[in-house]
Amino acid sequence: MTSFATRAVHAGNHPAAHNGAVTTPIYQAATFVRPRALPVESGWDYSRIANPTRADLEECLAALEGGASAVAVASGMAACVTVLQALGRAGGHVVIPDNVYGGTWDLVHDVYARWGLAYTAADMADLDAVAAAIRPQTLLVWTESPSNPLLKITDIAAVADLAHAAGALLVTDGTFASPYLQQPVALGADLVVHSTTKYLGGHSDITGGAVVAATAELGAEIARYAGMLGTGAAPQEAWLVRRGIKTLPARMRQVCASAQRVAEFAAGHPAVARVHYPGLPAHPGHLLAARQMRGGFGGVVSIEVRGGPDAAGRVCERARLFTLAVSLGSVESLIEQPARMTHCTTAGTPVGVPGNLLRLSIGLEDADELIADLDQALAGD
Ligand SMILES: Cc1ncc(COP(=O)(O)O)c(C=O)c1O
Repeated sequence: MTSFATRAVHAGNHPAAHNGAVTTPIYQAATFVRPRALPVESGWDYSRIANPTRADLEECLAALEGGASAVAVASGMAACVTVLQALGRAGGHVVIPDNVYGGTWDLVHDVYARWGLAYTAADMADLDAVAAAIRPQTLLVWTESPSNPLLKITDIAAVADLAHAAGALLVTDGTFASPYLQQPVALGADLVVHSTTKYLGGHSDITGGAVVAATAELGAEIARYAGMLGTGAAPQEAWLVRRGIKTLPARMRQVCASAQRVAEFAAGHPAVARVHYPGLPAHPGHLLAARQMRGGFGGVVSIEVRGGPDAAGRVCERARLFTLAVSLGSVESLIEQPARMTHCTTAGTPVGVPGNLLRLSIGLEDADELIADLDQALAGD
């Protein structure tokens, strides 16, 4: 079973272990009968530590990413917390991207800096800047590729080399690409984090996250921390993520094709000052993305609207087919204004985003109808 599409359907499925059920059932149980009053050596014990529904999803996630193991957690932020708790410490240092999801910024800046884990924000597309940001105390280099919401592309293999030469680990947030388009472990990442709320779940009906480890040792440590922290995914959520994954290849193929068309349309629109989409040849990371991502450039397109932040806000509010809502990676198309919504806490910081920027997550609707909706929304001012 080697192809991605086949793994997406079958990896981690064990009907014989579940009374022949073709899909892993939802084990809605907090605790499991133990045979002896002894520490656990095998079998199931307590769902905070491990649960059969979650375990089958974790096996699937590891198989999709080419990792040694995976932990499914309650949200993308739970994935980030689990990694930072397991591998950060006071006196240490982490390099983060100068364009990073607002929640990850909050965590590093508001929580971990207070506990003594220093950080430096660097342009991950500039290898000299990354090298200059790494210190002797650097424990982790954190990358996000493509980044949220500017779609910057990081050369994961080159940054992995820089991190490893300094004795640090490389973490890649692969949420925007999903494992269908990009598999960072093969490029040298030690850990891959995902918000499975997005493409892996795919239907805007759960929050979830994942941490995939390149080695069994690292994976065991991440699993131990997830158990201690209680960040693990609940059985029902784990089941919905596993179901979403079955259609991931088909969904990604369609959203990549539609996003490419939306990006090309926006690039020629007089109300648009700039388009950020790695599938456009003018994007500075286009060639790197073509090499590093397979089968497309993702379903998120960001556009800078002429007329400033208020004009951009009006475009969101005029959209009809695009739903004005945060999040991305679902079957329905969404539009939002990062500087006022997902990234509002980054204003005036090294990771701030332009006020006139809109982030579009392309769903499975008809591409012509999406373009017509964007056209009418842009034409209003
Ligand atoms: C790149 C990225 N990482 C992490 C997260 C956090 O995920 P969640 O909202 O599932 O906690 C998000 C959410 O938008 C994201 O876009």
